[in-house]
Amino acid sequence: MQSPDLKLRVRDYWDEMSCGEVYALDGSAARSLSRQEIARYALEPYIEEFARYADARDKDVLEIGVGMGADHARWASGRPRSLTGIDLTARAIDFTRLRFAMAGYQPRLYVADAERLPFPDASFDLVYSWGVLHHSPDTARCFAEVKRVLRSGGVARVMIYHKWSLVGLMLWLRYGLLSGRCFRSLDDIYFHHLESPGTKCYDVGAARRMVANTGFSECTIRVQLTHGDLLQGAVGQRHRGFLLDMAKRLWPRFILRKLAAEYGHYLLIEARR
Ligand SMILES: C[S@@+](CC[C@H](N)C(=O)[O-])C[C@H]1O[C@@H](n2cnc3c(N)ncnc32)[C@H](O)[C@@H]1O
Repeated sequence: MQSPDLKLRVRDYWDEMSCGEVYALDGSAARSLSRQEIARYALEPYIEEFARYADARDKDVLEIGVGMGADHARWASGRPRSLTGIDLTARAIDFTRLRFAMAGYQPRLYVADAERLPFPDASFDLVYSWGVLHHSPDTARCFAEVKRVLRSGGVARVMIYHKWSLVGLMLWLRYGLLSGRCFRSLDDIYFHHLESPGTKCYDVGAARRMVANTGFSECTIRVQLTHGDLLQGAVGQRHRGFLLDMAKRLWPRFILRKLAAEYGHYLLIEARR
């Protein structure tokens, strides 16, 4: 499939429902946004640990893929010199605008594509992106754009999906083994069954090579066990069924936390230009 078609399908997917909207389907807009925010940080406390919003102070900060804007509001509370957000979908930008309007902020938000950031070279000190760049057909190009818009010494904090994860194992059981296709590749399963069409996952080596090829000077990568791996919250709503319900009840979370930390679904990447 050609990238432009795939990009449209990615946009259509996220325009139907933003990420985390499942936690916000109740009551007034204000209540919905607050419910989504509460659920997000309760399920995923590692987001705040990784982002370190206080680092925004007096910096020019860009967030790529704002989604419903919870992290974007936290970046604003870090008192940056400027804060800019983009997303491929108008739906996400509208949610984030609403969240900021209710808090009395005037955000700089744009519908834009991570593969062609509409900003001059060296415009930002910090670029943040959580769970976004692996959805875009040309992820390497997104990283090149992140580097281009960063100033020398600037920092990128980016989460992309990890290939060798419990989430991957569950998807392989469901769409490989139980579908009679045990030789189906994980890449193909992720492409077709993990969120928007074309989603990619990386092992640590591949992610490190992608960042290095982009020309960042330093890079650290950490694997994070996630609420998806532990079957917590509303994960798996696309894959509903008896087996998922049973797995959610019987999942040995305590043991997995101890023994499977290296098989988490997120790669937390910090790179310096
Ligand atoms: C899984 S959601 C994550 C949103 C938010 N960062 C969060 O953690 O809730 C993925 C988001 O990436 C956006 N996205 C996908 N491809 C993009 C691209 N090429 N440029 C900008 N945003 C993109 C989608 O519209 C969607 O809002």
